[in-house]
Amino acid sequence: MSTVTRTALRSVRPFSKSFKSLDFARCLSTRNSQHTLNTGAKIPALGFGTFQDAEAIEDTVAKALKAGFRLIDTARVYDVEQHVGRGMTRSGVDRKEIFLGTKLWCNQYHPDDVEAALDESLADLGTQYVDLLMMHYPVVFKRGTERFPRDANGTIIQGETTYLDTWRAMEKLLSTKKVKALGVSNFSKGEIETLLRKSNTVPAVHQMEVHPYLQQKGFNSWLQSKGIHVIQFSPLGNMNPFYRATGWAKDIANMERIIDNTIVKNIGEKHGKTAVQVALAWGINSGRSVIPKSVIDWQMAENLEADFALDEQDLERIAALDKKARFNDPSLDYGYRLYSDLEGIEGTKMGKTH
Ligand SMILES: NC(=O)c1ccc[n+]([C@@H]2O[C@H](COP(=O)([O-])OP(=O)(O)OC[C@H]3O[C@@H](n4cnc5c(N)ncnc54)[C@H](OP(=O)(O)O)[C@@H]3O)[C@@H](O)[C@H]2O)c1
Repeated sequence: MSTVTRTALRSVRPFSKSFKSLDFARCLSTRNSQHTLNTGAKIPALGFGTFQDAEAIEDTVAKALKAGFRLIDTARVYDVEQHVGRGMTRSGVDRKEIFLGTKLWCNQYHPDDVEAALDESLADLGTQYVDLLMMHYPVVFKRGTERFPRDANGTIIQGETTYLDTWRAMEKLLSTKKVKALGVSNFSKGEIETLLRKSNTVPAVHQMEVHPYLQQKGFNSWLQSKGIHVIQFSPLGNMNPFYRATGWAKDIANMERIIDNTIVKNIGEKHGKTAVQVALAWGINSGRSVIPKSVIDWQMAENLEADFALDEQDLERIAALDKKARFNDPSLDYGYRLYSDLEGIEGTKMGKTH
């Protein structure tokens, strides 16, 4: 189904929902939680993702900011940085109030390319600085203009440097005024340990897949003990139809969606909230940030009202839902074993997708 058709279908608000229009600023039924990074900077607990639906991103970023979201997550490879930039301008929200994060893509990891890659992002975003610059994956592709450089067999061509070389080049950017904090995404524990051992900068953030079906409890505690803040991507788990379509996690992506899970729904009923809001609140109550993406007004409004307190019993019930179900695992395509020491890689370990 095309994006336009999907968008048209979903823009019809189910009449069971009674969320405020996005014209209203963030209201009293949601908190405005923030977490503190190891740089001392504050990061909102509730943010907004921009992967996919490029044609809608300018509009939704403008709406999201006007409605009260203050954390915007994007990436070079999403090809939406210009749209994000225009949305930020259109929102009228002061740049200083926005926490903006973007990610380098793997074909621009050569140390000599890193600053130029950041400059391209800044130009497209129409801003002098980003609050957070991340490495998207620890895998290095051949340097050049091709995002996914492949040989005649379709195999990704690896680069000749390492993620550590890239990280050291990123560290140098901290002395410019172009980057306020550095982070990584999709790293294993071992890879982060390498950064801690061999560089001078502890990542401020690890952006990784976390949701009630992939809780990564041990890894999350370890990251917390190191002062590395977690931003949960795909916080709604297999809500994103991308995961049901890609070969990365085809079968498990078709498992019951988190929003249909009875336990999550029951917890929501107790608080007068929806299952989506419970899934997001679980991340926030666990000390992490969440960056749900939506291009539908009522869904954005619903997500904005997801910052509320869950009690111990709720958290225990959600803890029991962990299925170690990882939906984002392009290891086989990228020719690099991602998440090697983490949970949820059984499906791709044997050289096949789920
Ligand atoms: N670092 C990485 O490698 C990485 C990987 C994946 C994602 N991310 C980041 O994380 C963000 C979020 O992840 P994601 O987009 O994969 O997953 P997600 O935010 O968990 O789910 C997005 C899907 O859920 C739908 N949705 C959103 N709110 C909803 C609601 N209230 N009710 C019903 N459906 C709802 C969206 O619909 P519509 O959008 O169609 O309205 C979309 O199909 C991305 O946009 C990106 O910024 C980073």
